Amino acid sequence: MSDTASLKLGEKTYDLPVVIGTEEEKAIDISKLRDQSGFVTLDSGYKNTGATKSKITFLDGEKGVLKYRGYSIEELAEKASFIEVTYLLIYGNLPTREQLDDFQFQISRHTLVHEDMKKFFDGFPSKSHPMGQLCSLVCSLSAFYPESLDPHPSKEDQNLTIIKLLAKMPTIVSWIHKKSLGHPIVYPQNKLDYVSNFLNMTFGQRTEDIEIDSVVVDAMNKLLILHADHEQNCSTSTVRMVGSSECNLYASISAGISALWGPLHGGANQAVIEMLEKIRNDGGDTQKWIAKAKDKNDPFRLMGFGHRVYKNFDPRASIIKKSCDDILSKLGINDPVLEIAKQLEEVALSDPYFIERKLYPNVDFYSGIIYRALGFPTDMFTVLFALGRLPGWIAQWKEMRENKEPIGRPRQIYTGETNRPFVAIANR
Ligand code: CMC
Repeated sequence: MSDTASLKLGEKTYDLPVVIGTEEEKAIDISKLRDQSGFVTLDSGYKNTGATKSKITFLDGEKGVLKYRGYSIEELAEKASFIEVTYLLIYGNLPTREQLDDFQFQISRHTLVHEDMKKFFDGFPSKSHPMGQLCSLVCSLSAFYPESLDPHPSKEDQNLTIIKLLAKMPTIVSWIHKKSLGHPIVYPQNKLDYVSNFLNMTFGQRTEDIEIDSVVVDAMNKLLILHADHEQNCSTSTVRMVGSSECNLYASISAGISALWGPLHGGANQAVIEMLEKIRNDGGDTQKWIAKAKDKNDPFRLMGFGHRVYKNFDPRASIIKKSCDDILSKLGINDPVLEIAKQLEEVALSDPYFIERKLYPNVDFYSGIIYRALGFPTDMFTVLFALGRLPGWIAQWKEMRENKEPIGRPRQIYTGETNRPFVAIANR
């Protein structure tokens, strides 16, 4: 393969560098094209635009492959803990025993959040959406830890900010849950591992530790690992974009949480369960809802279906579907929406509309059924996605800063009015 691509514009030909990644992905570097030719490239929604070179996550949407730092998602979901994967994503390698113990120890020293932050919870209406609370609370950590505002911190200080965020996020998430119930918060128990501590704060009571079912801990670890990174998706690109202005980590991650909230992205997990409930309450006629999803005059979409990058299957969805049956049977739960989900999938996968458009169940299709079985209310699902995605966002933010990437600032093609003389209001 040649190391340049030629672009002919009128009489002139421009040679553009070709960039090839370690997994043979190919790109044409157009960064100098405007200076050379006056042209920009146009790609609404960045459907075919690489925004960065990254060493963190690889995915091949045609083959259904997903790897973190070279390790397959199937192997990590089966064999690793979420905290190991967190270390892997952020620091680049799987930790040794000593590194992992030290990492967990550092995290355990910062799990408390400032007592003044509790006052925020009094201010939020009791029914306010957990994602709105989460992005506000994460951003407000910057007020409590102003040293994070330094755009050029030492490595140690930057790492401390990362550790603090990893440590405080489960505490904040569990307190949001407690607030929604009107229950007293549960403080962190540093003798517990990351995931068990989170579950204890979420489902435990103030005075005693609960016995945490290992099925629940394993399921939670797996779900968090499956959500931990997904290269340059909408929320991660947002984190990198905001961080590229040298904005602090807390504010950058808060922006990512906002981006994740939408129903086309992480908000889909909540939307899926609401859709399945609606179908069930409507009599369970899946054919009718498939017809609605195909009708271009109907805004209804099959939530949890389709993906910008996966055009064969979403490997995360395959793992989650398998776990779903397993976890529900281990917990002795029979959720009627699981049957509806399976029927919907079967009908959709044999329908030409979905086959032609390569629409398959994505990570959000079955995850909500598991979250529900574990005891989480529907409006907490996207918050759990955010908890899982946190190490990925941090790793991507850190990589972007370490690579000294320039501020993100796309171009546009202006299509508005050209010169118009101002007309005084009396004459308009
Ligand atoms: N139901 C019905 N039709 C669909 C769906 C769907 N879920 N998804 C895509 N289509 C159709 C769409 O109408 C279009 O048809 P046509 O070519 O006739 O106009 C075609 O498929 C291509 O869709 P698109 O919207 O151009 O594709 P996109 O890459 O811009 O969007 C998506 C990807 C995930 C936003 C979209 O598939 C979708 O809205 N899915 C439902 C929401 C969802 O489950 N989101 C979670 C994504 S996975 C978690 C994450 O990482 O965010």
